[in-house]
Amino acid sequence: MSQKRPDYLLFDRNTMAFVYGYQTNAIQRMLDFDYVCKRDQPSVSAIINPTRAGIHKAFWGTGEILLPMYKTISDAVARHPEADVMVNFASHRSAFETTMDALNQPSIKTVAVIAEGVPERQARIMAASAKKAGKVIIGPATVGGMVAGAFKIGNTAGTTENIIASRLYRPGCVGFVSKSGGMLNEAFNIISRNSNGIREGIATGGDRYPGSTMLDHIMRYEANLDIAMIACLGELGGEDEYQIIKALKEGKISKPLVAWVTGTCASFLPGSVQFGHAGAKADTAMETAAAKNQAFRDAGANVPDSFDGYGDQIKMVYDRLVAEGKVKQAAEPEAPKIPADYSKALSTGLIRRPTTFICTISDDRGEELLYAGKPITEVMDSRIGIGGVIGLLWFKKELPDYAAQFIEIVIQIVADHGPSVSAAHNAIVASCAGKDLVTSLASGLLTIGPRFGGAIDDAAREFKRASDSGLTPEQFVSEMKQKGINIPGIGHRIKSVKNPDKRVQLLIDFARRNFARTDLLNYALQVERLTTAKKGNLILNVDGCIGILFIDLMSSCDTFTKQDIDDVLRYGYLNGLFALGRSIGIIGHVLDQKRQGARLYRHPPEDIAFMLPRWDE
Ligand code: ACO
Ligand code: LMR
Repeated sequence: MSQKRPDYLLFDRNTMAFVYGYQTNAIQRMLDFDYVCKRDQPSVSAIINPTRAGIHKAFWGTGEILLPMYKTISDAVARHPEADVMVNFASHRSAFETTMDALNQPSIKTVAVIAEGVPERQARIMAASAKKAGKVIIGPATVGGMVAGAFKIGNTAGTTENIIASRLYRPGCVGFVSKSGGMLNEAFNIISRNSNGIREGIATGGDRYPGSTMLDHIMRYEANLDIAMIACLGELGGEDEYQIIKALKEGKISKPLVAWVTGTCASFLPGSVQFGHAGAKADTAMETAAAKNQAFRDAGANVPDSFDGYGDQIKMVYDRLVAEGKVKQAAEPEAPKIPADYSKALSTGLIRRPTTFICTISDDRGEELLYAGKPITEVMDSRIGIGGVIGLLWFKKELPDYAAQFIEIVIQIVADHGPSVSAAHNAIVASCAGKDLVTSLASGLLTIGPRFGGAIDDAAREFKRASDSGLTPEQFVSEMKQKGINIPGIGHRIKSVKNPDKRVQLLIDFARRNFARTDLLNYALQVERLTTAKKGNLILNVDGCIGILFIDLMSSCDTFTKQDIDDVLRYGYLNGLFALGRSIGIIGHVLDQKRQGARLYRHPPEDIAFMLPRWDE
């Protein structure tokens, strides 16, 4: 287990870590690395997410695992004493406080601080506190580091493809250290091509005051018998490299060292230029890359003439170690396979899968939302109104103005009919019972059916069937009577010949003025003449009028085909018009009640006839 690890080794195949911050990609990359290294168990013990405790689901190979998530470091530590590393993704604002918290936990031995821009004063306190406690900080401003075939910090080494290409799933013999995280990944690649690969690689971070220095890690590599050679990449600015040079001169580094200090081009630039990192700026001659490279050379390190020769130097040293029998070349294991992420495999055309359903009316995947293929800005610019939008989304057609207007008139006309009708009444009761707007709306909408607002489709169907099959109005009325079916679209509770429904009149007037033909309406009015002759309230009601006129609209307008009419009738489009329009009124009633303060509704007992069975008789 990790407790038995020698001091010079920060991570092994049993290392367990916390990830501070909900960095799902970095967590997955750690787990994927563990998986390709064939670790027995994933290296992430838990996630620490200050805003949410719970669980996080992640991939382990092709399967899935759950990782616990805690709000505080102490909660995580209490439940997971096995974790001795914390990968800290806290921002530069909270990196200090969280790192100090982690350093105070006895079980946490190493903290990797990823944030850039941590104030230098705080970075120095963190570094001093870690040293005092005998712990290690990697960073700030780093990607982290890794031990090949064992454990990696967060996003170190990039994608799984890079990991496989650089053979980081199994150990090599090179210990590498750099300041820069970007160079770490580049170096992994160079080293894998010129030797048997990396054993351990750390990026100390580009700040002036790193929690641990390049020399700290080189001394660990020196003590690690599995590491045969050391490679380092410094950069201009600061004097950290001189610590390594001093150790070389004092004979404290016995293993061959390949070194290069980047930033030699700075001398070609005017003035003192800062390169990316906070610390990458040479303020004195000693801090220049050229001076440091020369000093490395003088101290006996293998230093190329330019960065281009870095790989050659590694190869030269490695080949020598092999020739001297100091490195044994092991048989290369087969490169592991990692399942590709679904989204990536799909986007690169590696896989395909049947879709779950088809959508032919709208699309929100592009830059702009499309209604039936029309960008929403065009829809707005063309001022087609609600009627036109219904044309696009229900019929996938651009409707002529009068057709869109007819739909709009329907919506306006059915928007409300006072508080007594089923939908409004139900919604008001729900609202008074304390239900929210959407629930109250739904309870109102649920009353729409054959006896209230939901007879539009049936009216259209029945009247069209009767007329198409050549039934006279008399035959139709008597056929329905024989069947014992109320003719859909006929009859009203309060409207009658003497108290006509103004809405029906308005719709008929519009149709007569705008539609090319109103054949079905004419037929329906003959039916109405017969039914009202029986009873004054058996008028063509608003549902019936809408249904019948819609068929007249479709049959007399070139935009629609016979197939469209069949679809409308088969799938029942038209009750949707009532549901849509009446929602406006229902919402109004619910809001009206809410504004008044919800009082619990109770039906008056005098309105109910109580007629219970008597058991004593
Ligand atoms: N066709 C033929 N006869 C009818 C119809 C009809 N559509 N509606 C009622 N009648 C007759 C009944 O058979 C009954 O006759 P009876 O006295 O000889 O027994 C009489 O009229 C009264 O019937 P009720 O069901 O009591 O009428 P009520 O006024 O309660 O019903 C209703 C009104 C529900 C609208 C009814 O006329 C009906 O079912 N119509 C067909 C469905 C319909 O169009 N619904 C939508 C209404 S509009 C809207 O909600 C926005
Ligand atoms: C409505 O539009 O709600 C009405 O026609 C129904 C009714 O009962 O009045």
